Amino acid sequence: MTPPRKPITLHRLRAMHAEGEKITMLTCYDATFARVLDEAGVDCLLVGDSLGMVLQPGATPVSLEQFVHHVRSVARGNRTAWLIGEMPFESYRESKEQALRSASALMQAGAHMVKLECGGWTTDTVRFLTERGIPVCGHALGGWRVQGRDERSAALLKSDARALAEAGAAMLLLDLVPSMLASSITKELPIPIIGIGAGPDCSGQVLVLHDVLGLVQQPSRFVRYFMQGSEDVAHAVRRFGEAVKNGRFPDPELHTY
Ligand code: KIV
Repeated sequence: MTPPRKPITLHRLRAMHAEGEKITMLTCYDATFARVLDEAGVDCLLVGDSLGMVLQPGATPVSLEQFVHHVRSVARGNRTAWLIGEMPFESYRESKEQALRSASALMQAGAHMVKLECGGWTTDTVRFLTERGIPVCGHALGGWRVQGRDERSAALLKSDARALAEAGAAMLLLDLVPSMLASSITKELPIPIIGIGAGPDCSGQVLVLHDVLGLVQQPSRFVRYFMQGSEDVAHAVRRFGEAVKNGRFPDPELHTY
């Protein structure tokens, strides 16, 4: 019998990155799914921004209090996965001190790391948090558009990513980025780069759980529906993990830009 998995730590994620083992991440918003995803061996659970789109479409942006609530729920179901909590823009916009208070609230609720938008002035906030012992994942997101297609925006994205790593971020999430650019950022930076719609060469892959389960009506091009051919949710999630670890997802032809 395989021994139960030990808790995933930052040290372990760094070792996986150094050894070239792909990191798996799925979004998760409650204790029940957290237990299923953790038992299925997903490395990281993300209580991310997609929460708004999935759980309360059309409503106002998700508040810090709502993220704290969902992080607490996920932490109750999770045993070993690395848990990342989103810091909504409003929770760090005013000052670095406000950012620290918000990050602390998420950590107290059970997050192991916080995620916030990266680029420009947020780099100072990232430095402020990491100097105070809060592990940070930066998120380079371009809304619904593929970013970094032309030379200028590619150079900007690269310099933001570099600045973020220098500021102490332990991870970077790249959202909708051409494969070649994501690949070059992954090769250059010393931290794990997790991609969504960013090609197969990233250090790991993240998807929105509801996309993986085929619950979304018009999934984006980079999504694969793992429920098809699976016996149940746990099986679909294990297949996602295996496909990422074996380099079979994302497919360079089908899921990339
Ligand atoms: O914050 C989030 O939920 C995300 C997903 C799109 C992966 O970044």
